Amino acid sequence: MEILDLIVIGGGPGGYLAAERAGHAGLKTMVFEKRAFGGVCLNEGCVPSKTFLNSAKVYDYANHAEKYGVKVDGKTAIDQKFVVQRKNGVVKMLVSGVEGQLKRNHVIMKKAEAVIEGKTDEGIVIKSGDEKFIAKRLIVATGSMPVVPPIPGLRENLETGVVMTNREVLDLDHIPEKLVVIGGGVIGLEMASYFSSVGSKVTVVEMLNKIAGPTEAEISKILQKTLERKGVEFKLGAKVTGVEKDGVVYEKDGKTEKVPADKVLCSIGRRAVTQGIGLENIGVNMERGAIITDDMMRTNVANVYAVGDVNGKVMLAHTAYREAEVAVNNILGKKDRMRYNVIPSVIYTNPEVGSVGETEESAKQKGLDVKTVSIPLTYSGRYIAENTDLDGICKLVINKKTNTLIGAHIIGSYSGEYIVAVSAMIDLEVDIENIKKLVFPHPTVCEIVREAIFSI
Ligand code: NAI
Repeated sequence: MEILDLIVIGGGPGGYLAAERAGHAGLKTMVFEKRAFGGVCLNEGCVPSKTFLNSAKVYDYANHAEKYGVKVDGKTAIDQKFVVQRKNGVVKMLVSGVEGQLKRNHVIMKKAEAVIEGKTDEGIVIKSGDEKFIAKRLIVATGSMPVVPPIPGLRENLETGVVMTNREVLDLDHIPEKLVVIGGGVIGLEMASYFSSVGSKVTVVEMLNKIAGPTEAEISKILQKTLERKGVEFKLGAKVTGVEKDGVVYEKDGKTEKVPADKVLCSIGRRAVTQGIGLENIGVNMERGAIITDDMMRTNVANVYAVGDVNGKVMLAHTAYREAEVAVNNILGKKDRMRYNVIPSVIYTNPEVGSVGETEESAKQKGLDVKTVSIPLTYSGRYIAENTDLDGICKLVINKKTNTLIGAHIIGSYSGEYIVAVSAMIDLEVDIENIKKLVFPHPTVCEIVREAIFSI
């Protein structure tokens, strides 16, 4: 049996980056991927959804061009088949980029399923088809899959194609007249934003009384209002109890109602993929279906690591990237630890939301003495110059004791791009007085952070 320094199971962001870094460092590395390199993120998640959302943005601009002094003759129309084709082209380019990077770093790529068979003195035995390999070290990066709960009719209608998950919705080649989205989380809102822009009548049914889960409360309200203006209808505090071929049944305030649908998107969360990979054969500990890892990405089994959604900690591709680096650094003997307190998150609706760190509520729950500042994005010249809807805000949370930023929550154009600047200020614990000395380019929307800092 061939002996490898490292075997990685799963070729998504966590897996491919781990393999790439390990290969670069000179480890004899093999990575298994049963579907497509790039994983959910590149093939049926983060990236393809952004191609959709950008088409919607262009369409929105074209429809409201006159607000910017641009005359468009004739009717604008969305060519959904072309949107999907373009998405496929983008995905292809990025996937081949990932494969190229793996090749350049001498990683052995296996497009096949791998199963952990057991352990010997030499390492962990990995089986794939008729082949067997020994891994001195193993990184499990098998990702996550959509939760499909036992709601009556959900599974049946998934089979007939009425119900879609993130995978099917990104291949939909027409615009449904009536789309019902189950779950007002990140996927649900991004797709509601897209399909309402391009002409569907969208209804979001959400169990909680607010959308966008842990998003800061005021920002969540603004996002809801802007989406409502686009025509999205929200049923909040509404629990889905049944799915039929022509609609979704839900309970709200003790009453049962039905909202008609041609298509239904099920986006009520994701769960770690831990079944069928043989984790039990080496005794990897799990909790609520996810692999337990420490801050060095180690599992309870020596030389076995788990990165990305499979550990269920923070299901975001950029978390997986950093976890992959932490795992590989530790394998290489360079001590590295994962920190989860400063992970930015972005909702790519139009307008987009960029958030990082504590909200006022979460800080207070932790007993921190905080002050907050909230200012409208209209303090930014570029924001006003480029937008006609001017609802954006920037909210900062400051730790009074340390006089440092501990949270930032922004809704408005580019916030997803510049939130990382605030992440750096939080991570490096820069004193507010020192932030005041930073020079921001003018005019930019990110100057809002400087304005907010001076408004404290
Ligand atoms: P989510 O966890 O973000 O939201 C699911 C929502 O469904 C919750 O608000 C929940 O209250 C609601 N829900 C659950 N059961 C329900 C029921 N029976 N009836 C009505 N509502 C119900 O999950 P989502 O949107 O599926 O996203 C999955 C994962 O993908 C998340 O971990 C997310 O972070 C990640 N993701 C991140 C993106 C980004 O960073 N931009 C984009 C897309 C996905």
